[in-house]
Amino acid sequence: MKTLVIGTGGREHALALALSRDPQVTEVHAAPGNPGIAEVATLHEVDPMDGPAVAALATAIGADLVVIGPEAPLVAGVADDVRAAGIACFGPSPEAAQLEGSKAFAKQVMAAAEVPTAMAHVCETAEQVIDALDAFGPPYVVKDDALAAGKGVVVTDDRQAAIDHAAQCGTVVIEEFLDGPEVSLFAITDGETVLPLQPAQDFKRAYDDDEGPNTGGMGAYTPLSWAPADLVAEVSRRVLVPTVKEMARRGTPFQGLLYAGLALTSRGVRVIEFNARFGDPETQSILALLRTPLSALLLGAATGELAEVGLPQWSKASSVTVVVAADGYPEAPRKGDPIGGLDQVAELDGVDVIHAGTAVQDGQLVSAGGRILSVTAIGDDLAEARRRAYAGVDLIDIRGSHHRTDIALAAEQGTMES
Ligand code: AMP
Ligand code: GLY
Repeated sequence: MKTLVIGTGGREHALALALSRDPQVTEVHAAPGNPGIAEVATLHEVDPMDGPAVAALATAIGADLVVIGPEAPLVAGVADDVRAAGIACFGPSPEAAQLEGSKAFAKQVMAAAEVPTAMAHVCETAEQVIDALDAFGPPYVVKDDALAAGKGVVVTDDRQAAIDHAAQCGTVVIEEFLDGPEVSLFAITDGETVLPLQPAQDFKRAYDDDEGPNTGGMGAYTPLSWAPADLVAEVSRRVLVPTVKEMARRGTPFQGLLYAGLALTSRGVRVIEFNARFGDPETQSILALLRTPLSALLLGAATGELAEVGLPQWSKASSVTVVVAADGYPEAPRKGDPIGGLDQVAELDGVDVIHAGTAVQDGQLVSAGGRILSVTAIGDDLAEARRRAYAGVDLIDIRGSHHRTDIALAAEQGTMES
């Protein structure tokens, strides 16, 4: 099978890497890709937002399956353009991608499907914002309705900061605060059959102990030994299946990766958000443990034959991913710093370096984005996976870069509560 991955980030590198290790895949192509993806795929220069150009590339290389990585091209309808060219494409239509593209839309779908989520007010005016903030009280949760790459959300006890953030957004969603640990649960679906993947945990704040601003994600691990044993079954029954059914009922079936960001609150599971694509960096950790050929799952979803693929199979190992971010990330990441040490990391057992914001300049690998790269390690248990991941991170040399030192630490120490 010939595959084409669209995107440039760590998620796309993890997808391309898994496809390159999949015995059913003969060729991996990517566009536009990055220097890490270039090690496992043939790169092509195409604007991921240009649907007709993506479809033309897929046709030219004879792709059997196109995988759209990021949300922006999905919301723009690129997956539909690929399908219109007669090529199987993993990823929702623009209508279905609104589950991620509009938080207000996601709330409507959840209400119709009776999916448990935070109470919310959709506000258009400053007056509505103030009423909603005061109705819920602190901590205040203020979300830009539009796509903001995980950075449009402010959670704060400071009422004025909440008002100020809302003023910078257009339509804004004000929510009840959800306590409890967060879990990312992904499901692959063809619009009917829903196959949940192994749950993972992401670390959204920039600094240790969940301090600092929200980011796209600073690290991840799986499995979650502390999570309730019936978590996947419960989330399937109460969240994933009803949402997929409701999307089909509306005539806009969701095909692709349905990402449920969950809070395990004292009052039960609540959806924090949906995304319409693989999460980053959870995907790096999850795919490292997937035993079922990834291509079978993605093609099964894209062609409506997921029921025949069967439940995904997993390695019993643990996997930890640590993101190395640029100086100044997330506010103002510096670019162009040389990246050293990757040759030594390549010699470590069970460790992959996954590129995100990297580029080659004058023959030298340099930083080119906020999240520069991540180190994903597998081990027999979380302790071993953590040790290996941080051994890799410690070998990497990028001026001013920073990473969290506590990824999967509470889980390793057995101090996570659910
Ligand atoms: P989102 O983009 O909706 O996933 O929000 C980003 C992050 O903000 C989440 O991962 C949570 O850490 C936090 N967050 C969002 N909504 C809530 C909420 N209702 N209560 C508490 N934290 C939240
Ligand atoms: N890891 C968070 C996200 O992909 O949105």
